Amino acid sequence: MTRKAKAVVCRELNKPVVVEEISVEGPRRGEALVKIAACGVCHSDLSATNGTIPLPPPLILGHEAAGEVVEVGEGVTGLKPGDHVVSSFIYMCGECRFCAAGRPVLCLEQGKALTTLPDGTLRTKDASGKPISIFSGCGVMAEYATIHVDNLVKIDPKVPLDRAALVGCAVTTGVGAVFNTAKVKPGASVAVFGCGGVGLNVIQGARIAGAGRIVAIDTMQAKLDLAKQFGATDVLLASEDPVKALKKLTGGGPDYAFECVGNGELAATAYRSIGRGGLAVVVGVAKPGDSTAVRTMTLPFEEKTLTGSYFGSCVPRVDFPRMLGLYMGGQLKLDELITRRYAIEEAPAAFADLESGKNARGVIVFKG
Ligand SMILES: NC(=O)c1ccc[n+]([C@@H]2O[C@H](COP(=O)([O-])OP(=O)(O)OC[C@H]3O[C@@H](n4cnc5c(N)ncnc54)[C@H](O)[C@@H]3O)[C@@H](O)[C@H]2O)c1
Ligand SMILES: [Zn+2]
Ligand SMILES: [Zn+2]
Repeated sequence: MTRKAKAVVCRELNKPVVVEEISVEGPRRGEALVKIAACGVCHSDLSATNGTIPLPPPLILGHEAAGEVVEVGEGVTGLKPGDHVVSSFIYMCGECRFCAAGRPVLCLEQGKALTTLPDGTLRTKDASGKPISIFSGCGVMAEYATIHVDNLVKIDPKVPLDRAALVGCAVTTGVGAVFNTAKVKPGASVAVFGCGGVGLNVIQGARIAGAGRIVAIDTMQAKLDLAKQFGATDVLLASEDPVKALKKLTGGGPDYAFECVGNGELAATAYRSIGRGGLAVVVGVAKPGDSTAVRTMTLPFEEKTLTGSYFGSCVPRVDFPRMLGLYMGGQLKLDELITRRYAIEEAPAAFADLESGKNARGVIVFKG
């Protein structure tokens, strides 16, 4: 059955997002129609509206949502109406060598469903009847979304859906970068550049992993206050060069540094800051033309590593329930992550607040 839904759309680059009425077709084979309860506003959504992540508009935004399945398509056995689900924005073919090795974020077909469903088609049309693209195979900043079941993970219905939504990006990206990509060891020292929705989750992941020193760096004092709440042991207001301060604080540089902003120069700073044998992880997504330069000699002589982390190197069906288990067990803070809830009509304000750094995370909550 086709449903009408309000959706947050990027109509034109570098213009505020708009709320439009769209139509959402029911699910075909291997798909499910989800009534979205909540969707987080991630910096990557903002990046899709300003060309940092280059995708052609119009585009239904949203890739960090949770909701309830209302209809399933032919051949779907793992989900049924009433199930609670969280969206996952990675495409996984299930057959390539990376999918086979349990690393779906590196799926060789990853570029396939950037703005459509995996089969290249869309279930969404705008008010004039034209098909309208969806961000990252999701487009879940809308009252309803029909997406592929590989982009959905069933969750424990006891978890409130607005909090569960955050596992669809910020939490899994941040905590996963610590657990899966870097494998931070107990007692290690960690620096985190950028304390937004993603960086705060790197901080709490490092806390849960038992890191000794966790140093948070941000340009805004309010973010540093939040960082302390999430487990930072030390904070630094970003100065021109925080490397010296970090070396001093950690006795030669942290074992791990995470760049959670999306800036090549900052990635280089993160790399410079780490001590011998250290690991710098780039989590932020920079503009396509951006680059990072490191002193080549430090690679052999100091055995330092510069790497990246995409969606916390996660396996959604393994890591989403794991993150929610940490929340239910009282270790992972999700309640504190939501600074403000917005009605869908307030979406332009939610994006403006993200851009001005007002929120840990802003979440769009859809009416029952
Ligand atoms: N790798 C992935 O899979 C993945 C997933 C989600 C988001 N991201 C990317 O991660 C980045 C962060 O996303 P977010 O949603 O947390 O964004 P956010 O806007 O909530 O947070 C960014 C933070 O960085 C701070 N900041 C800006 N410039 C800084 C600087 N020079 N030094 C220190 N701090 C600075 C801001 O004050 C803010 O607190 C974005 O680039 C986003 O696209 C990557
Ligand atoms: Zn995101
Ligand atoms: Zn694959």
